[in-house]
Amino acid sequence: SVSSAFDFTQNLFPLSSTAQGYTALGAPSNPSLDPSNALNGGSLEKNKSLTYLNGLSLVVGLIIGSGIFSSPSQVNRNAGSPGASLVVWSVAGVLAWTGAASYAELGGAIPLNGGAQVYLSKIFGEWAGFLFTWCAVCVLKPGSAAIIAIIFGEYLVRAVIGADTVNASAWLEKGVALAGLILVTLLNCVSTKLGTRSADLFMILKFVALLAVTVIGIVVAVTGFSYKGEASDDWKKQGWFDNTNTDISNLAVALYAGLWAFDGWDNVNYVTGEFRNPTRDLPRVIHTSLPVVIVSYLLCNVAYFLVLPTSVIESSNTVAVAFGSQVFGPLGSLILALFVSGSCFGALNATTFTSGRLVYAAGKEGYLPALFGTIGLGKSHRAIRLHTLNASATAHKRRVIPRTLVRWFADADAGFFFTPIAAMALNALLTAVYIVIGSFDTLVTFYGVAGYSFYFFTVLGLIILRVKEPTLERPYRTWITTPIIFCCVSLFLLSRAVFAEPLQTLLVVAFMVVGLVVWFAWVGRRRGKEGERFRRAGMGGVGWRFWKRWRR
Ligand code: ARG
Repeated sequence: SVSSAFDFTQNLFPLSSTAQGYTALGAPSNPSLDPSNALNGGSLEKNKSLTYLNGLSLVVGLIIGSGIFSSPSQVNRNAGSPGASLVVWSVAGVLAWTGAASYAELGGAIPLNGGAQVYLSKIFGEWAGFLFTWCAVCVLKPGSAAIIAIIFGEYLVRAVIGADTVNASAWLEKGVALAGLILVTLLNCVSTKLGTRSADLFMILKFVALLAVTVIGIVVAVTGFSYKGEASDDWKKQGWFDNTNTDISNLAVALYAGLWAFDGWDNVNYVTGEFRNPTRDLPRVIHTSLPVVIVSYLLCNVAYFLVLPTSVIESSNTVAVAFGSQVFGPLGSLILALFVSGSCFGALNATTFTSGRLVYAAGKEGYLPALFGTIGLGKSHRAIRLHTLNASATAHKRRVIPRTLVRWFADADAGFFFTPIAAMALNALLTAVYIVIGSFDTLVTFYGVAGYSFYFFTVLGLIILRVKEPTLERPYRTWITTPIIFCCVSLFLLSRAVFAEPLQTLLVVAFMVVGLVVWFAWVGRRRGKEGERFRRAGMGGVGWRFWKRWRR
């Protein structure tokens, strides 16, 4: 499959001699000192250890996070009726499924690290890959982290001050969100191990919370439990589809909220190289994990509908708290709130970890100022590294720090603080800005518009590739209707966003325009030296001509 990538490069960019420029992301000179190796446990090619079941739990764990506990409010408000909400959830799930299947084909055909950045570079030219990285650094990564942090704050505040205080101070919630963000960033700065170890710990919480809601919902359905409070608008007295919203733009907003809960399916591609038998297992993983997530989300929503009146579901982003309090009283809501905030904390931790590596790789690649491609605390990191190594070694010899603690939490050969600190600081800063100025509802559309723009172009690239490179080796081929369905639905979704949420859409467009300006005025120009990069960028000569004129 490596040779297929090579042939492919040759065909698409006849002037370029190697594909090495693209492997530069995540392939630094000294691999043992590169924290991004911690992401994949060394070289992707060497470490083929994932089995079908590992892959399944990994993908399901990547997708399930804050969304199923927070999106129902926005979905219901915009869909109008329980029936329409369930349809929205199904459409969102199927869209994620087709997207994941399409990405799997791309991952097999272009077996390099880096995900969408690499595919876009290969298919449309390096400018497209840069634009993706730019938006990932400025919008996608901090935006998603901000959403998760906000939900973390809302659930934790509800857990502490009680479920029935529906109108907790927004600033209290944002303060808790910021505190969570800072804590998670510090954990990940101290050592890579500290970050990954806490990830394992929090992984289990979301499964328990989701399972609890679903199982309770089924029990409720069987035993005929019904809402005891005032339920003047109880939809059960009406039909499933009464009051369905017919405004297409509202349905699009509902879809964005649903898509948030399914987001993360693109991360499947970061693990493709690690399967023992990718050709057999990757499609199997995708075609079981996504249906599993879709079915459990639908069951969970049915559970919400059976236990709560729509007005309660729509009133806050913390539907699981209301659910717990309705079935078990205050203790139930406290337990569910703690589980969900724990799940969000874990998700925040995972995003911080990967964002740090993404920003770091972008700094290494020259897409961002070199500062962000450094490890540790700037120039003195070597001294600090040796110092912490010595300090931790002597400390645990003297049993000041228990030996197991050092073994568990310090990075081998690196001690503490040997992580991409500058990159994670940038990510935390941007995330904090979004937390302060945004809310769950606004950020979910903002994130959705930006994310689906790139998903759309990447999957469109798959179709282009099928036409341009029909003989390219594809270990996994989707049904061609899969990417076509994905492109049509996401194009519809993007076109509606302009009318439904003009401000967020405009902001996303502004970020992209700035990204293009940065490319053409700065990054791409610098890479245009000798013209090599621009020719490799495959811009049909536009960039090259642009560069020549610029120099004259
Ligand atoms: N689906 C996840 C949730 O419900 C969000 C995943 C965030 N996306 C990402 N690429 N990190 O919380």
